[in-house]
Amino acid sequence: MLVDKHGREHSYLRISLTEKCNLRCTYCMPEEGVILKKNNSYMTVDEVIHIAEFFVARGVNKIRLTGGEPLVFKGFEDVLKAIGKMDVDLSLTTNGLLLNKFWESILKAGVNSINISLDTLNEEKFKRITRRGGLDVVLNSIDQALKYGLKVKVNVVVIKGVNDDEILDFVKMAYSKPISIRFIEFMPFDGNKWQWEKVVSAKEILGKIATEYDVKDIVALDRDRNYISRDYSYWGMKGSFGVISTMTDSFCGGCNRIRLTADGHIKNCLFTGDETDLLTPFRRGEDILPLVEYSLMNKHLKNGGIDFQDLSTMHDHRSMISIGG
Ligand code: 5AD
Ligand code: SF4
Repeated sequence: MLVDKHGREHSYLRISLTEKCNLRCTYCMPEEGVILKKNNSYMTVDEVIHIAEFFVARGVNKIRLTGGEPLVFKGFEDVLKAIGKMDVDLSLTTNGLLLNKFWESILKAGVNSINISLDTLNEEKFKRITRRGGLDVVLNSIDQALKYGLKVKVNVVVIKGVNDDEILDFVKMAYSKPISIRFIEFMPFDGNKWQWEKVVSAKEILGKIATEYDVKDIVALDRDRNYISRDYSYWGMKGSFGVISTMTDSFCGGCNRIRLTADGHIKNCLFTGDETDLLTPFRRGEDILPLVEYSLMNKHLKNGGIDFQDLSTMHDHRSMISIGG
């Protein structure tokens, strides 16, 4: 088992396959894009598989493939196939645009849950937020996923003045479809023009919902030990909704997550600037276990050691697109 210095067991690995994406979401990447590294700085399909195997042998039982957009990674299907054979719960976070190309491999690999990012139900706004388009494709992917019996979570990053007027529309969507809507508080990453003023807190989100739906009919759903989202449902609702309150009420106590970036670095927290390069030593045939242990021994108890009230405490940070969601 991989245990950090605070006694938290790390059984959940999130692997970013690529820093590339077919969208350009404003909250995720800077307008000018991110500078990609040389091709050989990134893990190959075989390296991803072998490093994943290493983690599974040390107690990881849950793997999520992320990006950038994981579906634009050449060799995505090979990775899926190989990890699908491992003894893990395998899931994906995607923008949903390319799912139609990959359903067969996704189902064959035994993926049973997919997170789809969708921040607006309005075509024009979708174009503004993503600097591209394709709302209809994403909506269709959600329906397809449900048809295939997958568990679907829809990630909505709520930004004041951008999409906070759509909170109730998303809740309505969870009424008619068995999906789990997750409202995420806007988080600061390199180049995303974050400001406290743009954050809509979990409390405000729930307050907004309570204006339309009677609070006495709300059911708080059970959550597991490593929860990140507080989930609720109303009587008669097919799905559920939840809030991810990273900024106003973080949930680091039960953290079991470790991240592997597309260039093979371990990041022990979304917010930490500290990274441990696994890929270079791995290529030299060295044992990477001491490096992983080192990273976990230095994991901060909360928020990667940064103070959200003073962002100058955030050092060497990447854009979300290069961290992996
Ligand atoms: N704040 C909150 N959530 C974000 N995501 C990306 N950037 C941010 C941000 N700045 C979310 C996306 C995606 C998930 C991987 O991370 O919505 O669903
Ligand atoms: Fe791509 Fe997701 Fe980032 Fe949007 S949020 S640019 S879809 S990786």
